[in-house]
Amino acid sequence: MYTKRRIVELLKETDEAAIRDLFRHADEVRKEFAGDAVHLRGLIEFSNYCRRDCLYCGLRRSNGKAVRYRMEVPEILAQAAYAKSLGFHTVVLQSGEDPYYTAKVLGSLVRRLKEDLGLAVTVSVGERTYEEYKTIREAGADRYLLRFETTDPVLFKALKPDSHHAKRFLCLDWLRKLGYQVGSGNMVGLPGQSMESLADDILKFQELDLDMIGLGPFISHPDTPLAGCANGSMNMVLKVTAITRIVTRNAHMPATTASGTLDPEGRQKVLRCGANVLMPNLTPRQYREHYLIYPDKICIEEEPAQCRSDAENMAAALGRTIAADAGHSLKMAHLQQP
Ligand code: 5AD
Repeated sequence: MYTKRRIVELLKETDEAAIRDLFRHADEVRKEFAGDAVHLRGLIEFSNYCRRDCLYCGLRRSNGKAVRYRMEVPEILAQAAYAKSLGFHTVVLQSGEDPYYTAKVLGSLVRRLKEDLGLAVTVSVGERTYEEYKTIREAGADRYLLRFETTDPVLFKALKPDSHHAKRFLCLDWLRKLGYQVGSGNMVGLPGQSMESLADDILKFQELDLDMIGLGPFISHPDTPLAGCANGSMNMVLKVTAITRIVTRNAHMPATTASGTLDPEGRQKVLRCGANVLMPNLTPRQYREHYLIYPDKICIEEEPAQCRSDAENMAAALGRTIAADAGHSLKMAHLQQP
């Protein structure tokens, strides 16, 4: 049983042997509850327009330096078909909060991906109404990712001035009720974030009984109000990942691009202390450099096929395999693929 006090202690731990033990324990829990197969999710960042103005994010609407793009539905479908041909079983459709794509449009896109390509579909387009989530779910979307970013309501308001903390959690509630496999997550090392608030984030992951948990370091973007702020630290990301794995046991946890951007070995390190998922970037090359949530994002140059083989090599070097199934939630046996 991990109390808040115990979690804070672990986050503050400096003894290297104790930290190694924590990571080893997390790796064992990952192996027991999520297995050795690494799941690949092909990420398609289809629009970088965003109606929000989050202080940390390079896609914020006030960032006039961002070169904006939108992919049209046929282009997204073609890219997903390409993902399938590379052996991906899941695509993640991600964008800024862009009302250009109505729920109807997203729903018909999802339906094509399910019916024509047989892919598992994850949607990550931010906050929408209950009705919109319903339309997209009824079109066949399997999963939805919506990070709560931080449990600290004061920090949330300061960083997301045009969002509401309670609304964010209400959205997560709706998504669950609609039968989505639900993913959430946070950023580690946000300016003003305390160890206590990180411990609350971890306990919130546990309380929400999430199917997927994505977390990564905050990385300061020069064209945002948080330019010049310190980045999150890899060590803290590893600790948060490890404790999250231990307390949540069977959630799917990606080694995120942000971890790989902060540290060239970041994703490998995260995979060794709790993570079991990689999300290769399958956004068409010409757009990728413009989806700059944070600077110096990795995998800007690689072709999707290269991203796939990099992921395979990474898993193999860690003595792990690549999963052959769609990698549905580990929480609900009936959702698992044969
Ligand atoms: N550094 C790291 N992660 C960020 N995100 C947004 N901006 C940054 C940043 N500057 C994360 C948020 C968001 C996800 C898509 O990217 O957690 O939910």
